[in-house]
Amino acid sequence: MATHITGIQDQIVIPGGKHMRQLKVALGIATLVAGFVMAGPAAAQAPIVIKFSHVVTDAAPKGKAALKFKELAEKYTSGRVRIEVYPNSTLYKDAEELEALQLGAVQILAPATGKFAPLGVKQFEVLDLPFLFPDQATYDRAINGSLGQGLSKRLETKGVRGLGFWDNGFYVISANKPLLQPSDLQGLKIRISGSKVDDQTLRLMGANPQIMAFSELYQALQSGVVDGAQNTATNYTTQKLNEVQKNITTLYHVHLQYAVITNKKFWDGLPVDIRTELDRAMAEATVYNNSISVDDNARALAAIRATGKTDIHDPTPAEMKVWRDAMQPIYKSAESRIGKDMIDEALKVTRAPATN
Ligand code: SIN
Repeated sequence: MATHITGIQDQIVIPGGKHMRQLKVALGIATLVAGFVMAGPAAAQAPIVIKFSHVVTDAAPKGKAALKFKELAEKYTSGRVRIEVYPNSTLYKDAEELEALQLGAVQILAPATGKFAPLGVKQFEVLDLPFLFPDQATYDRAINGSLGQGLSKRLETKGVRGLGFWDNGFYVISANKPLLQPSDLQGLKIRISGSKVDDQTLRLMGANPQIMAFSELYQALQSGVVDGAQNTATNYTTQKLNEVQKNITTLYHVHLQYAVITNKKFWDGLPVDIRTELDRAMAEATVYNNSISVDDNARALAAIRATGKTDIHDPTPAEMKVWRDAMQPIYKSAESRIGKDMIDEALKVTRAPATN
């Protein structure tokens, strides 16, 4: 492992960041310690340790799937690999984790795809275009087809390998006032996760979007640093965001998905038999995640309704049309950000009739 980690640090080009120096120091110490350990007689038996960091709780679909991956990976490799899962931003927050992956301080992440611009792959933000996916089936078809494959390929040029896409359903939007039409967002500070397409969309509605780490969202809503948010129902319940928001509108305007990623050099450097078993475990964990996310989100929304403390507004078809029409101009203005070709490709896939 020590060899892998040092190798990764040497080969990677990373945009500057405030946590870089701390990471490098931590990594240097980790490498030294690992070197001592590996020199000992137990070196041959030492398991390969893979750190998997993410920002949701163990109870969210991604959290459950990460634990499923751990269970399967350790079973299939007969303990030759140990997966350490760090949930709920306990190891890294949003802004730090991509740097950490590139430095080799962590081996697997599963960020929301709207957070990939700092890696130099802002094309992922095409997935944040409002109402791109009319339903879950269209999302599934697109992400498992050419759109998802093309995006994954772009990661490779950054030294990152995509291991799978994990679903987490569609966004609702919330505030402490009813959001019945776009103008209700006027002047509201709405937390977003990082995507400039989200930023442009909310600005067009007259809102004031604020990028903020997921781990800081509850506090920010509670203290009024931001007025509202958009996320999936499971992310509301598992972070208790609904407890600090009086109104939710089930707008379902943007789909949330994660790209599970690893450092390419690390993954390619694993013994082939180990990598094969890890790929198998990941494929099964991906199926698992994608089989629970829709139901988990439906249950989470029902649980919020049942509290009676947050009013949930389900827009009528006429109201939905007003939201759609208001957000439509983003498809043009986002061309300068993610490219007309990318948008046309996404529309081709998502507007095509299903073949089965
Ligand atoms: C996540 O589900 O990983 C967090 C998404 C967010 O930052 O909004």
